[in-house]
Amino acid sequence: MKELAGKHIVLGLTGGIACYKSAELCRLLIKAGAVVQVVMTSAAEQFITPITMQALSQRPVALSQWDAREANNMAHINLTRQADACLIAPCSADFIAKLAQGRADDLLSLMCLARPIDKVPLLIAPAMNREMWSHPTTRRHLAQVAQDGAVVLGVGCGEQACGESGDGRMLEPQELLDELIALFQPKVLAGQKVLVTAGPTYEAIDPVRGITNLSSGKMGFAIARAAREAGADVTLVAGPVSLASPYGVQRVNVRSASDMLQAVIQRVDDASIFIATAAVADWRAAQASDQKIKKDGSGQTPQLSFVENPDILATVAQSPRGQSRALFCVGFAAESHDLQANAQAKRLRKGVPLLVGNIGPATFGQDDNALLLVDESGAHELARDDKLTLARKLIANIADRIQARG
Ligand code: C5P
Repeated sequence: MKELAGKHIVLGLTGGIACYKSAELCRLLIKAGAVVQVVMTSAAEQFITPITMQALSQRPVALSQWDAREANNMAHINLTRQADACLIAPCSADFIAKLAQGRADDLLSLMCLARPIDKVPLLIAPAMNREMWSHPTTRRHLAQVAQDGAVVLGVGCGEQACGESGDGRMLEPQELLDELIALFQPKVLAGQKVLVTAGPTYEAIDPVRGITNLSSGKMGFAIARAAREAGADVTLVAGPVSLASPYGVQRVNVRSASDMLQAVIQRVDDASIFIATAAVADWRAAQASDQKIKKDGSGQTPQLSFVENPDILATVAQSPRGQSRALFCVGFAAESHDLQANAQAKRLRKGVPLLVGNIGPATFGQDDNALLLVDESGAHELARDDKLTLARKLIANIADRIQARG
């Protein structure tokens, strides 16, 4: 999916070892469909060559405010007039200080100051040594820059090029790409706290065996990502899946339905929206064995008995909080036939205002899906599309419902 098709991004590089990651970032932006104009400070040129960045961006890199090739000799103005966003990555402590003070003695700082502040968002991805990052001067400058309207992205924690370890690493290129993509999504869930369950659960029979199902978690993860892009604070309670966490989403890993119920109950009082996409196992072994059940060669099979798992969605939806206006609950149903009738019956049984039906075999493990939104007044289809596009449409639909009920 060309997420940034038609977007014009100015990518600014300042001096820092993280410049090597900006090459990969530039590649990702181009792959996502963006037009990328790179601007580098002379300090950045110490770390990576403009030739590399030109080859990756397919455009000459802008380097100097004195470059006479620009017809009007005003590169600092021209650079942002077509731009949809400026991203400074890496953004050094020195450059943050310049932004905070409105200094403009090189092309990039001039350009930042001369950008139309209401039309062209400025994102900065700080990168520096941990002591520089925590220094009161840097904190003060960052607060000032944020107050002046820039989006200050987070930093990673870990080993630094200097050999020390701590906060101050530049975010990874993929994370920066996700931040840019999120920037262009409407913030329809700003201020909301969303709790999502996703993936299958695993119910142990003994220490090496268990029952589970083929849910990949992709739909739930896409919903968590779309909710975060829409400005919500998102917690994702995930069963055993190998998917990477969406950037900026708080993830809680669980295994069994009982673990999932506990994780949800601990967090739901804080949530304003609960979206249950998990394919929770219906049953678990009545008595999971502490030791591996051995095959003794007699041909006899173990006699297993099962008990029903708690219904997490119904428990939440039918609790006092679920019945109040403080929490909006959404359920999912994977059916094999009669989608609308089954989904409507399930909606009433669970006690939720909105139930999203899909055909199980057509969604498990797939990258695309089709959804049927069932509520008290009927059904509305979201036609087959990739799961992230569907997730964004579902989030927009949920936002409309929350707004309509006031
Ligand atoms: O009853 P069924 O499993 O078809 O219901 C599906 C919906 O209920 C999904 O939203 C699923 O996440 C939720 N569910 C649950 N706990 C269960 C079973 C289902 O939260 N034990």
